[in-house]
Amino acid sequence: MTNSKDRVVLAYSGGLDTSVAIGWIGEQTGREVVAVAVDVGQGGEDLEVIRQRALDCGAIEAYVADARDEFAEEYCMPALKANALYEGKYPLVSALSRPVIVKHLVHAAREFGATTVAHGCTGKGNDQVRFEVSITSMAPDMNCISPVRDLALTRDVAIDYAEKHDLPIETTKHNPFSIDQNVWGRAVETGFLEDLWNAPTKDVYVYTDDPTYPPLPDEVVISFEKGVPVAIDGRRVTPLEAIQELNRRAGAQGIGRIDMVEDRLVGIKSREVYEAPGAVALIEAHQALESVTLERLQRRYKRQMEQTWGELVYEAQWYSPLKRSMDAFIEDTQTYVTGDIRMVLHGGRATVNGRRSEASLYDFNLATYETGDTFDQSSSRGFIDIYGLQSKLAAARDVRMGGGAGY
Ligand code: ARG
Repeated sequence: MTNSKDRVVLAYSGGLDTSVAIGWIGEQTGREVVAVAVDVGQGGEDLEVIRQRALDCGAIEAYVADARDEFAEEYCMPALKANALYEGKYPLVSALSRPVIVKHLVHAAREFGATTVAHGCTGKGNDQVRFEVSITSMAPDMNCISPVRDLALTRDVAIDYAEKHDLPIETTKHNPFSIDQNVWGRAVETGFLEDLWNAPTKDVYVYTDDPTYPPLPDEVVISFEKGVPVAIDGRRVTPLEAIQELNRRAGAQGIGRIDMVEDRLVGIKSREVYEAPGAVALIEAHQALESVTLERLQRRYKRQMEQTWGELVYEAQWYSPLKRSMDAFIEDTQTYVTGDIRMVLHGGRATVNGRRSEASLYDFNLATYETGDTFDQSSSRGFIDIYGLQSKLAAARDVRMGGGAGY
């Protein structure tokens, strides 16, 4: 390959900005561009069409990677095991996809002899950080560029460029939103949503129907093995199929709409509207199964870990040593997270109403208030005497010293 070391691998979406970026990077840097599109279940246009467009826009090579199963299994499932919700709400849709996209970019870079990786992110968001930190983590020898941030490729410039060069891409259709989507969910920002008082309009949503007028309730049984969904209503499913089916069924009930203001890594607060019907239903079910299968202290500790895990993934630390160590802990907790959860999907809510597991720690004979229970209530007396001792001593001291908490 001649000149191969000069090539740039571009994360290509098929949209206006990355289509223009192909030629723009060529002009600004004098390098050949290899376009790589990664399928993480974003739907929309056929990827072969997107591949051809990249070539038509001047890419020297164009490559499409089907990463749907890999994304579901190796990125969404760890997030499910971690019940990962950034700031208690956001299932990390975009944050999870960046590391898998980068993995394919780096592979392509090695294959096509490129030393630089380019992405279409702006200089204001989390995604630039996730792309670049992931790239440095996987390939410390590679460089990154962002045409929007580093080569002044603004939207107006992109439209002018596409028109002047007659690129096969729509420049007139003005989408007011910035959207990122994959099988785990959909993120919508900008436009009129930038005014925090403006409610999202109907056209914001694609994965979910309006929960105000739902269809009849939909009861579903999700079977898990070691924290991973393996069957729905008794039919075996892959992780990808489980997410897709629940996207459809929970989406029809308007489940998983999230309208929030979140704290970005770069210090900006931003209004985000998400829809993640499958992710939200699965996390709800998974948490319910953990409530019967995890030991009390393990579950309590895991909850703290989950928050940190979500923050790390949000903050571009997918490949960090701390995240790796946490994965080992979380994986260990899933040993007995096997069983069935029944839930009713209806009117915007996924409500658990049944759980069963061979590995359950729930003991009916201990819990029951009926006669014949096996829990020896007389033991509680001594337990409370000792458990309350420290409080008793402290309270007595307060009285002795004339102080006290004033009860
Ligand atoms: N704020 C979310 C995140 O940082 C979503 C970003 C998605 N990008 C977009 N162009 N809408 O993970």
